[in-house]
Amino acid sequence: MTDPLPDHAPLRVAVLGAGTVGADVLRVIRTSADALTHRIGAPLEVTGIAVTDLARDRGEHVDRRLLTDDPALAIRDADIVVELMGGIEPARTLLLEAMAHGASVVTANKALLAKDGVALYEAADANGVDLHFEAAVAGAIPLVRPIRESLAGDHIQKVLGIVNGTTNYVLDAMTRTGASFDDALATAKELGYAEADPTADIEGHDAAAKAAILASLAFHTRVSLSDVHCEGITTVTPEDIAAAGRMGRVIKLLSIVERVEEEGTERVSARVYPAMLPDSHPLASVSEAYNAVFVEADAAGSLMFYGQGAGGAPTASAVLGDLVTVARQRVHGGFGPRESRYADLGIIPLDGLRNAFYVSLTVQDKPGVLAEVAGTLSSHGISISTIHQETVPAAEGDPERARIGIATYRALESALESALDDLDSSGAVLGIDSVIRIEGE
Ligand code: NDP
Ligand code: HSE
Repeated sequence: MTDPLPDHAPLRVAVLGAGTVGADVLRVIRTSADALTHRIGAPLEVTGIAVTDLARDRGEHVDRRLLTDDPALAIRDADIVVELMGGIEPARTLLLEAMAHGASVVTANKALLAKDGVALYEAADANGVDLHFEAAVAGAIPLVRPIRESLAGDHIQKVLGIVNGTTNYVLDAMTRTGASFDDALATAKELGYAEADPTADIEGHDAAAKAAILASLAFHTRVSLSDVHCEGITTVTPEDIAAAGRMGRVIKLLSIVERVEEEGTERVSARVYPAMLPDSHPLASVSEAYNAVFVEADAAGSLMFYGQGAGGAPTASAVLGDLVTVARQRVHGGFGPRESRYADLGIIPLDGLRNAFYVSLTVQDKPGVLAEVAGTLSSHGISISTIHQETVPAAEGDPERARIGIATYRALESALESALDDLDSSGAVLGIDSVIRIEGE
């Protein structure tokens, strides 16, 4: 026999957004109402659902009578506001207003957290309410809570992973099926993985926002979007993917945040870029829109988190976990973790780091060119690990051309930058086609 439902006044919940994620959150709130009531100790009552298009059909689980195109109205009198509309404004103003009225907030809005999380954390503190955002990083994967709570007693050194489902889907399709970039992106959009404006995905901004959130939590330091070096996947070509395959590597968009110690001073590096990983690396086999993240901590050692990083239902799972948590706290008392920023570490710019690189050049196919390229790299202290050359078909009458793919050992980013400038101005080098970092070796 199941326990009787708790006899507690309902908690009023406003849901801002009933799109890919919002619709799934509303579905579960409705279809699992009794189970959620038992887990929380009180029923959830959705009192308002904000959308822009009141006419659109949203299926049986979205109660049309609760729809409004005035989100300010929806949040009035709410105990909990679940923000799933995305974007900076009006989301920012609405959440600040909701917290000022005493509502706790659950949001999946990484763009807002990375750009202006400080205002939200401070408002949560000032008003004594909760701010939870598990869904903002890596979809369904529990990652924010493990870093913020389970590892709160450990010392995290590095977080490295694939945290954008759309770009992983696109790169995976290009690698495995030879799909075009545009076709793969169109499918990722149809499947609900991409942001409303998928530029945020393919240019790396979404992964950078997640990197900023992870770095802030892992290193107890305020890290914002502008602190993250960000490169997307729009420059990755089928030739790069083929070159990676030839070398036993695969290209993935990585988010990396780590402590870097130099002369006794610790700083934080936060960066997002496409990188070649060896086929044997655990992240190399992460396919479709799956995400996977490694966390390295002094005592825990290496931890790996893996799961669905995007999509309505997986993301709704993380949102609902937060919703149950904040709802329980409204019923039983207590607060979730506050912002922790005591360490206040500086940010190390990318050019101070050492990385290995793959560089693809189109050159004149004539004696001495390879020696000149190797000499230029060597003059900047860059050592070559492997080299591959192939002839590029030239139009009749054009000079013979070749494409050289060079993998280097680790070198300073600033040294590679200078070497590329020299190569660019050398007569023998007709073009620098690609520069991709090599990680995981
Ligand atoms: P969608 O674009 O599918 O849905 C957004 C919803 O918000 C829509 O219902 C839209 O209304 C509504 N909305 C937007 N602006 C306003 C406004 N000014 N006033 C009222 N309603 C508004 O987005 P997603 O569901 O994909 O994403 C929601 C949030 O979750 C974003 O922050 C996103 O970054 C995050 N997220 C998304 C994931 C995913 O896989 N999709 C995964 C993890 C996080 P209407 O329906 O009328 O257009
Ligand atoms: N657009 C995001 C992605 C959604 O593709 O990963 C999940 O945050």
